[in-house]
Amino acid sequence: MSSGNGTATVEPFFGTEHLLDLSTKVAVVTGGARGIGQATCYALARNGIKAVAVVDQLEGLVAITNQANEDCERSVMVPFRGDVTDADFRRHVFAEMSNLHGPVSVCVPAAGFTKDRLAVKVDRETGEADLYSQEDFERVLGVDLTAPIYWAMETIASVARDRHSRQLGRWKPSERVQGAVIFIGSVSSAGNKGQVSYATAKAGLEGAQATLAAEAMFYGMRSAMIHPGFTDTAMVRAMGDDYVAAHILPQTQLGRLIKPEEIADSICFMIRNSAVSGQLWVDAGWHPKA
Ligand SMILES: NC(=O)c1ccc[n+]([C@@H]2O[C@H](COP(=O)([O-])OP(=O)(O)OC[C@H]3O[C@@H](n4cnc5c(N)ncnc54)[C@H](O)[C@@H]3O)[C@@H](O)[C@H]2O)c1
Repeated sequence: MSSGNGTATVEPFFGTEHLLDLSTKVAVVTGGARGIGQATCYALARNGIKAVAVVDQLEGLVAITNQANEDCERSVMVPFRGDVTDADFRRHVFAEMSNLHGPVSVCVPAAGFTKDRLAVKVDRETGEADLYSQEDFERVLGVDLTAPIYWAMETIASVARDRHSRQLGRWKPSERVQGAVIFIGSVSSAGNKGQVSYATAKAGLEGAQATLAAEAMFYGMRSAMIHPGFTDTAMVRAMGDDYVAAHILPQTQLGRLIKPEEIADSICFMIRNSAVSGQLWVDAGWHPKA
């Protein structure tokens, strides 16, 4: 198959009838302006998706999506600039995409950030113990936990509304799967020094993923989760090359950072292959010492 941008995608030997047909699907990717989110937008476009809402708060978002549409040789990406924790903004994105392209049935809520610090710090001189800021904790949970769940639920609602309008009730296995939500976890969901807020958010997503997987199949929607290892993005580069070389690379089997495109490729596989459920670890063999 040719995806229309000169990139050939190879169809699997088992045929395509159980694959999600991306050419009829509309996606929302948050954090789509850079890193894993951006690579996912490109991968979806190259796999022939009908349209992608690229959601991000970065200033250069419009220029980034213009460039992406040029690279993909079609107008596939639609920019929406805003904060993912803003419920009105979220509803606006879904209303616009539904009007322009039809119901949204694929969601990759990838926007995220870290605010790392030890949970408890004790002043050596005074013995005074200082806790991780509650304000920071709540902001990290807002962006990394609550927001992805609400963008996922909005996607399921978009499909549910559309099915209702077509007098369709409970999804039947004789229908094709309608869409998928892929949450972005992390190897940090198992706990990581300095990441009490981020690790809590990522572990929390596991409960949401499993719950939505159980509930959303009523509408033919799948929910799964990818746990990337340390990936070469701004988030990880902010730790500094020396820190990455000393503390991260030695604990991976591959001895290198993962490319965002490798994570995006796995996300596309998880979206397209309807037999995938639960969680996939794409961590380059991350085996941190206790
Ligand atoms: N890089 C890694 O090693 C790694 C590993 C595991 C999981 N992850 C997860 O992958 C996802 C993407 O991370 P990345 O490494 O590509 O990071 P990144 O910093 O390169 O990209 C994150 C994007 O999210 C956007 N964003 C952040 N907060 C936002 C908000 N409130 N509203 C709108 N946009 C917002 C940023 O502007 C940015 O473009 C995150 O959920 C992150 O937790 C990353």
